[in-house]
Amino acid sequence: MIPQRLEHQATDKGYVPIYATGVVEQPWHDYSDTDHAVWSELYARQREVLRGRACEQFLAAMAALQMDETRIPRFSDLDIPLRRSTGWRLVAVEGLLPEADFFGHLAAREFPVTWWIRTPEQMDYLAEPDLFHDLFGHVPLLMDPVFADYMCAYGQGGLKAMHLGPDALTQLARLYWYTVEFGLIRSAEGLRIYGSGILSSAGESRYSLQSDVPNRIGFDRDRIMRTRYRIDSFQRGYFVIDSFDQLFEATRPDFTPIYARLAGLAPHAAGEIVPGDAVITRGTCEGWDDTPDA
Ligand code: PHE
Ligand code: FE
Repeated sequence: MIPQRLEHQATDKGYVPIYATGVVEQPWHDYSDTDHAVWSELYARQREVLRGRACEQFLAAMAALQMDETRIPRFSDLDIPLRRSTGWRLVAVEGLLPEADFFGHLAAREFPVTWWIRTPEQMDYLAEPDLFHDLFGHVPLLMDPVFADYMCAYGQGGLKAMHLGPDALTQLARLYWYTVEFGLIRSAEGLRIYGSGILSSAGESRYSLQSDVPNRIGFDRDRIMRTRYRIDSFQRGYFVIDSFDQLFEATRPDFTPIYARLAGLAPHAAGEIVPGDAVITRGTCEGWDDTPDA
């Protein structure tokens, strides 16, 4: 099956191509030595960076999944522990999917993983998600029962939000961004990372926890759903949950009336602190320009 580029589209991942295909077969035998070497180098680097930085659920899941460190894993191998732990499985895709397909897969406990990996020139940054981001960043936490349920509920919520209009989808995407992609979590030893956009980035793994520049604010569902974000740089603000249970419980109610209420309120800028925020660290804002948020 040849994937077809539909069009370039502004999304929560930037201005990127959206593909028409659904699921493809992971072309495992077509990976080059360079592809495997890129995986291996990124894997080894993040394993070091994430020691003492990733949340315990992620580190435990990495140990349990036993991903191959020297070759790109076969998705079908990872399906075995995933199915046993939480009932999830992986589907190979060409890239970002249309919203309805993406939500539908999550609702069915299928996680779409981009089959191709970045080039050696893109080790530190690329504009669209690749295999390393999707597999290393997103898949381990699908082994955690509460987080796995959260992802499934998000997919179901997305399907519902599609009938409620663009404002609902915008608010829901912000929640995904500030939790699934860029979330921090409290632990007895200090803040830890659970967001996959951070977990798959060496630079942001350090920055999100150690830098003086960004704000770190206690999780607040409605506040997050009103908050714009940055797609082209490290985040200006991170939101910190106490536990996956807190996240799951806060997002359990029907969002229909919440969307309607929040649609009437002005959004907050990415780097703002607003009244009511449970500020954990107030950032210096150093180096922020006035380019617009997403
Ligand atoms: N409970 C939300 C709704 O009714 C769906 C949702 C679940 C959203 C989990 C985000 C995360 O729309
Ligand atoms: Fe992602």
